[in-house]
Amino acid sequence: MAPRPRGFATKAIHAAVEPDPFTGSIMTPVHLTSTYVQQELGVNKGYEYARVSNPTRTVLERNVAALEGVKHGLAFGSGMAAITTLFHLLKSGDHVLLSSNVYGGTYRLGKLVLNQFQLDFEFIDTTDPDNISKHVRPTTKMLFVETPTNPTIELTDLKAVARIAKAKKLISVVDNTFASPYLQNPLSYGIDIVVHSATKYLNGHSDMLGGLLILNDKKLAERLRFLQKSIGGILSPFEAWMCLRGIKTLPIRMERHCANAMEVARFLARHRKVEKVNYPGLLTHPQHHLAKKQMRGFGGMISFDLGGLAAAKSFLKRVRLCSLAESLGGVETLISHPATMTHASVPAEQRQAIGVTDGLVRISVGIENVEDIIEDLKQALGRT
Ligand SMILES: Cc1ncc(COP(=O)(O)O)c(C=O)c1O
Repeated sequence: MAPRPRGFATKAIHAAVEPDPFTGSIMTPVHLTSTYVQQELGVNKGYEYARVSNPTRTVLERNVAALEGVKHGLAFGSGMAAITTLFHLLKSGDHVLLSSNVYGGTYRLGKLVLNQFQLDFEFIDTTDPDNISKHVRPTTKMLFVETPTNPTIELTDLKAVARIAKAKKLISVVDNTFASPYLQNPLSYGIDIVVHSATKYLNGHSDMLGGLLILNDKKLAERLRFLQKSIGGILSPFEAWMCLRGIKTLPIRMERHCANAMEVARFLARHRKVEKVNYPGLLTHPQHHLAKKQMRGFGGMISFDLGGLAAAKSFLKRVRLCSLAESLGGVETLISHPATMTHASVPAEQRQAIGVTDGLVRISVGIENVEDIIEDLKQALGRT
C-alpha cells in the first residue's frame, strides 16, 4: 500500500480552521452575507462580494487543499459546477481526452453540452498509458482521468498520466471523488488539477452538494478563480460549513468504508449468482497491484454483474437495509443501477463497450455493521 499520509486526521480537523477572532467560536462560523462593508474606497478586510469569496468557503477551500498537500482550492455548488468551470480553461477547437467510463454527468457535459462550442471530447481507455499517448493530437489540450472509475472501478496509472501530460504539454486532471484525499493524492504524482464531488466522501452524510478544484500552480489557480467569479457556480456558505463538518471524520469513515467493502466484495465473489465483482482489493482485480502502489486503501465502491437486467431489477427490488439511490460516499449503503441511472446518457452500445452492462449493479458500501449489510445482500440475492 502507498504510505499513510502523515498527520492527515489532524489536518482534516484543523487545517485552515482557526477559532473565530471575535467570539472564540471553535467551529467556523457560517458567514451568511452577500456583501462586506468597505472602510474606504479600495480598503477592505479581504472580502468584497460573496460570489468572489466568503470566509466559510475560504476555510473549506484551504482545508481540502491541505488534505491534497497543495496550496489552492476552489469550491463550487456541485461537482458538475466545478467540472464546467474547469472546462472553461479550453477554447473552441481544443481536443480533450477523457477516461471512457467517467461519471455519466461528465460524459453528458462534454458530449451533449460543450460540444456546441466546438470543444472536442474523446473518450478512450486510459488504463493503458500507450493508448493515451496514441490518441494525443496537435489540438489536444487536456487529459481528464477518473481513477478508480465510475462504475467499473478501473484504475489509471497516475504517474504515467502525469508523464504523458508533461511531455505533450497537456493540462492533466484527475477526478479523485471515489478515492477521496485520504486514499489517494494525484497531485503528488505530478497531476495538475484534482476534481472532487464534495457531495460524496468529503461531506460523507448525503446532505449537501458541492464540488472542488484543487491545484498547486499559482497562475492556473488565478485563472480558475477568475472563471469561478465570472461563471458564478459557487458553493453556498452553509454547504461549505456542512462539508467542513463532514471532513472532520473523513479518516475514520474511510477506514470503515474500506474494511466493510473488502468483506462485502469477498462475500459477493463467493456468491453463485454473481458473475463478476469489480473491487481493486480483490486479488482477481486486474489492477490490484497498481491500486496497492498508488492508493492507501481500496475504497468503498464495488460493482458486480448479475448477468442481465431481470436479475438486477429483481435484486434491487428486494434490498431492505441498502437503499436503491443515486450517489455514493455517504454513511449509509447505497445501491444503484448505472445503465439506467448514472450512465443513462451514454448510448447503449458504448455502455456495453465500457462494461456498463444491464446486469451491472454498483454499491457504495456504508459504515453500518458489515454483517447487517451482507445479510441484506444475501437475502436479496437469494430470492433473485
Ligand atoms: C466521480 C464523480 N465525479 C463527479 C460527479 C458530479 O458531482 P455532483 O453530483 O456533486 O455534481 C459525480 C456524481 O456522482 C461523480 O460520481
